[in-house]
Amino acid sequence: MDDRQHEAIARWERRWLALAGFLSIFFILLIAFSLATEGAHIAQPSGRTTPAELASHPLFASPGLTALGPDRYQLSIVGQAFNFTPAEVVLPVGAEVEFFLTSRDVLHGYQVQNTAINVELIPGEIASLRYTFDKAGEYRVTCNEYCGIGHQNMMGRITVLSAAEFAHYQASQEPQPQAQAEGGAPSGPSGEAIFGSNCVACHQVTGEGLPGVFPPLARHAAEVFAAQGTDLAGRDYLIDVLLYGLQGEISVEGNSYNGAMPAWQQLDDAQIAAVLDYVLAAWGNDALLESFTPYQPEEIAVRRGAGLTAADVHQQRQALGLE
Ligand code: CUA
Repeated sequence: MDDRQHEAIARWERRWLALAGFLSIFFILLIAFSLATEGAHIAQPSGRTTPAELASHPLFASPGLTALGPDRYQLSIVGQAFNFTPAEVVLPVGAEVEFFLTSRDVLHGYQVQNTAINVELIPGEIASLRYTFDKAGEYRVTCNEYCGIGHQNMMGRITVLSAAEFAHYQASQEPQPQAQAEGGAPSGPSGEAIFGSNCVACHQVTGEGLPGVFPPLARHAAEVFAAQGTDLAGRDYLIDVLLYGLQGEISVEGNSYNGAMPAWQQLDDAQIAAVLDYVLAAWGNDALLESFTPYQPEEIAVRRGAGLTAADVHQQRQALGLE
């Protein structure tokens, strides 16, 4: 290679280095600009926890909104594959909100449209930030970290209402003692709503799941319910699947699945009963069941103490004669 060729190569190397240097400086300036003018700031670490501790953690045992004073709120959020708890938040305009966020399983993001809120949810870490919602409207929340096959369905919403609308909203949320006194038993949680915020990302609205990834609940949930092993019934097995998850390869209608069903211990007994009732009634499952009585929260409570692993649940499935 002669000197001229060397010089040509060196010239291009210098150009690329200059371009890379310019881009680095440009991006740093963009960050500095957003910090200075858009109210962006670095989320503060405010402690550590572990996913196992979340159920008893003062901030995350029952995540959601807590009023601290006039227009001051604390909001705790847990991300998990593939939803946020709570997914829907309603606030009055002007609300100053202190957020506490964490993840139950893998990395997620919590990005609120048209605001400076964009946090990484890290399992084991608690992130906190403050934000004041000065404009009424609907703010879409999305997970912006790829977290698995249902990532694109991981969404939420913050609705900011005018003071009058918010007062009206709050009044509508109060339990109505009169109606309960007249109507007898208070109605339990809605299984359909629980399915919609926790299960739908994987098992889909149609109950058909995703081929090769998440098994269908249509037909199959009824088949599992009817299964009978020597010392376990399908009815109880389904409770274990929700409480402890399921890990291992299974086969449904000739297709094999090797995704992981997470454990849903954060749902209370009444919620698990309600979502099982919903699944066993939806998509024609009810027509496949010979006899079905709704799940009672007490049945869930009994199995909650069993301390199984997701792999144990896979063995139970085989003991029921299911592939
Ligand atoms: Cu959670 Cu993407």
